[in-house]
Amino acid sequence: MTRPLSVGIAGLGTVGAGVLTMLRANADIIAARAGRPIAATAVSARDRGRDRGVALGGLRWYDDPVALAADANVDVVVEVIGGSEGPARDLVAAALRAGKPVVTANKALLAVHGAELAALAEQHGQALAFEAAVAGGVPAIKALREGLAGNRIGRVAGILNGTCNYILTVMRERGREFAEVLAEAQKLGYAEADPAFDVDGIDAAHKLAILAALAFGRPVAFDAVHVEGIRRISAVDIAFATELGYRIKLLGIAACGPAGIEARVHPCLVPEQAPIARVDGVFNAVVAEGDFVSTVMLQGRGAGAGPTASAVVADLIDIARGRATPVWGAASGALADVPSLPMSAHVGAYYLRLMVVDRPGVIADVTAVLRDAGVSLESMLQRGRSPGEAVPVVLVTHETNEAAMAVALSRIAGLDAVLEPPALIRIEPA
Ligand SMILES: NC(=O)c1ccc[n+]([C@@H]2O[C@H](COP(=O)([O-])OP(=O)(O)OC[C@H]3O[C@@H](n4cnc5c(N)ncnc54)[C@H](OP(=O)(O)O)[C@@H]3O)[C@@H](O)[C@H]2O)c1
Repeated sequence: MTRPLSVGIAGLGTVGAGVLTMLRANADIIAARAGRPIAATAVSARDRGRDRGVALGGLRWYDDPVALAADANVDVVVEVIGGSEGPARDLVAAALRAGKPVVTANKALLAVHGAELAALAEQHGQALAFEAAVAGGVPAIKALREGLAGNRIGRVAGILNGTCNYILTVMRERGREFAEVLAEAQKLGYAEADPAFDVDGIDAAHKLAILAALAFGRPVAFDAVHVEGIRRISAVDIAFATELGYRIKLLGIAACGPAGIEARVHPCLVPEQAPIARVDGVFNAVVAEGDFVSTVMLQGRGAGAGPTASAVVADLIDIARGRATPVWGAASGALADVPSLPMSAHVGAYYLRLMVVDRPGVIADVTAVLRDAGVSLESMLQRGRSPGEAVPVVLVTHETNEAAMAVALSRIAGLDAVLEPPALIRIEPA
């Protein structure tokens, strides 16, 4: 066998320690599949004294991760620090400039700076691999970029954030509210102390921007993604959704039509018989629709040391084998600048829940507003009668335009019989 591929790992948290462990535990099969051994030889993190549950003896230590790029004995740099700016960005750029291939799990970096880093990788003829950045252990990048490469992809959708999926699953199973389930998820280590990136949909939007770029062959465009999180989902909406035959999921959806690309992350009502509706707990899923292949769905663990290491090590094996694909599937110059569509152009069906005073004429007022805005109703659900008190009313619309729905919503919210801000959730076919 030839000389081992020497790897420098920046970041020794969940992912970095997982990669070290996997490279050691599966060294034999990794060497066979890579055609040569793959060994970590250098590492970087902030705190040298911290116990990481993995032996660091014999590895060169760098306090400054960017120094890994200049280590003549490092062939490949693995960036698993995180963050779109700072040392992660500096290290990836420095490694590519130094003529070293890079493997990263950093979706924020790729979503925000993916175009310029791909150009740098091309300029220096180096790989920039990122299988772990989307859906962790699920090989979604390879599937879209390589496995489905002959297809025109019309739509890609996914459950891209395990924390949100876990919270929504527990809310449904136990009939509990968002805040208490979030607090419990934080205790169990399924949610970060600062959960904003996850529960506000930003993490899913980073991943969706990456999937959309690969699916449609256009430059990555994070700013064009419409983003909403799950904070406003309540137990009552989950119960009504179940009654209507739906599950509530936070989906990332990107679709390419004649007018352009829509990319959006928001809670959705999904028919309960749709395969993606049954992906529960911390699991992730990605569904792609290609013109020749039809629908493909992948699911699995989107986070954690093992699944993420699995994806990083797969990228390292590709590099050891010399299997190279342009970062975004096609060379930067071959990417098409397809226009992005605003959310106001979206067309779909909507679930609307109101808390209204139970008195004659209220429903007639609400339906008149919808009629005037050109929104037609598919069904309505009203529970219980308590004259003079607040009761929930659920309305499901036919397909309508987001802009029309926004007009109707603000007028409905202004009616004096409507007691709380209305809950609006988009319905997604599957
Ligand atoms: N966790 C997952 O399941 C998962 C899944 C998919 C993708 N990712 C992505 O993988 C990346 C790493 O995630 P993680 O969960 O492993 O993060 P983490 O547990 O927070 O680990 C981050 C590591 O980076 C090190 N670090 C931070 N700033 C540094 C600096 N200035 N110089 C040197 N080292 C520095 C930290 O050092 P200390 O340990 O000394 O503090 C730590 O070892 C992120 O981009 C994340 O989005 C994670």
